[in-house]
Amino acid sequence: MADRYDIAVIGGGPGGYVAAIRAAQLGAKVAVVEKDRPGGTCLIWGCIPSKTLIKSVQVLEEMRKAERFGIQVDKESIKPDLEKMMARKDAVVNQLVGGVVGLFKSYKIDMHHGHGVMLAPNRIGIKNGGPELTEIEASNVVIATGSSISRPPIPGIDLDGVIDSDKILSLKHIPKSLVIIGGGIIGMEWAGIMSPLGTKVTILEALPTVLVPVDDEIRQRFLISIKKLGITVQTGTKVEAIENNNEAKDESEKLTVRYSTDKGEQSISAEMVMLAVGRAPYTAGLGLEDIGVQMNRRAIMSNMRMETNIDHVYAIGDVTQRIMLAHVASAEGEVAVENIMHHSRLMDYRAVPNCIYTNPEMASVGPTEQELKVAGVRYRVSKFPFTALGRAVTIDDTNGLVKLLISEETNEILAGHIMGPDATDMIAELVLAVKQRITTRELAETIHAHPTLPEAVQEAALGGIPGASAIHFKKTNL
Ligand code: NAI
Repeated sequence: MADRYDIAVIGGGPGGYVAAIRAAQLGAKVAVVEKDRPGGTCLIWGCIPSKTLIKSVQVLEEMRKAERFGIQVDKESIKPDLEKMMARKDAVVNQLVGGVVGLFKSYKIDMHHGHGVMLAPNRIGIKNGGPELTEIEASNVVIATGSSISRPPIPGIDLDGVIDSDKILSLKHIPKSLVIIGGGIIGMEWAGIMSPLGTKVTILEALPTVLVPVDDEIRQRFLISIKKLGITVQTGTKVEAIENNNEAKDESEKLTVRYSTDKGEQSISAEMVMLAVGRAPYTAGLGLEDIGVQMNRRAIMSNMRMETNIDHVYAIGDVTQRIMLAHVASAEGEVAVENIMHHSRLMDYRAVPNCIYTNPEMASVGPTEQELKVAGVRYRVSKFPFTALGRAVTIDDTNGLVKLLISEETNEILAGHIMGPDATDMIAELVLAVKQRITTRELAETIHAHPTLPEAVQEAALGGIPGASAIHFKKTNL
């Protein structure tokens, strides 16, 4: 007899494991099918390991600036120890994976180890190495299998020294030089990790601009900042091939990337090449075609209740390719199981934070200025620079600004874009503002603690009230 569940979740990432816990809280008998450890891309291969390494790099950079804070250091002795950085990263990942395992136990969620295959809408086969298939039955199934790294059809991507966002997590030494193919979020975040470690980083981006979803003004300011850090960005490139460089003087020129631009054929040599050209929904071998789940190429189609076209089969997270972010997957997971458990709820994508962990950090919620223009929305802009903020001056981190996009009709905050210190934490207030349709006056009249970084948000809101101005910054062209 196969085990029977109210809900089976395939995939134990931030979509699947949150769905499972929420379902158990609502009283369901829950199983999770996972071929790896629980945690998914975010916890094991993405957000958590990369942000742990970013912290090491931040400490390194702070130490390099120590003298500016009145602390004497022996500059020669400030060096990254990659092995120890990686060990700390592994320890953090293990601790958090252990946390998820512990939560599963305390909520009596069964973990079934192996690759899940849909045999019928209410039956899942689990392959775990051997030839036989274990089966479980579930009244409802939530598919949360996530995404995998896209591998572009570029000759040479299997050469030694060509890595991706998985392989870079087990680097054994710091390469002298690195070419990153793809100027999206992964490419930019890794450029920001490797450059301070001493790697010469060049980003090759196919489109005319990097970081396409970012507000144009914020991107321009960011590109000026990373140029100063020594990161080279080349846009409008078509990568033709990656080849072994037979004329290399040393390891730092081991590979050559050949590419074309409107200026003609070009090439660059580096010790390593990283592919960062996007992720694709992971649906291979799931048996979805056999049970008739509606797909859009590799992505599963689900509605705002997270239902697929098959009754009692739901799909959430990266596998739907709607918005590939961990926190969106978690929210979708909660919506799916709440609907299963008769707490009817629709997903609301109006206020989704986007955080980019670079130096400086960037974070946003709501549309960009270019998107509002295309949509013909009447808006005005209010900005406040960190140079005018006491807290930013005390921590010697004044590069950046808060930029609000405000409805001309209602004075509601339509969007917030931040570049600067702790932008990724500070965006939370603006997510609430956008979600609750808060006006500039309501935000400006909310007392913010002093001295803190979020005062920059309050000041920008104040400057966004018609006829008013920020206190610590007299409006000029920012
Ligand atoms: P992405 O889609 O953000 O960026 C990929 C970039 O590569 C694009 O700019 C694209 O134009 C470029 N590209 C594609 N093919 C190319 C080629 N042959 N040559 C040169 N450039 C090429 O994908 P990315 O950065 O790999 O990230 C994957 C997913 O993970 C995204 O959905 C992202 O939002 C998510 N993510 C989120 C993070 C966060 O929230 N902090 C961190 C890292 C990833």
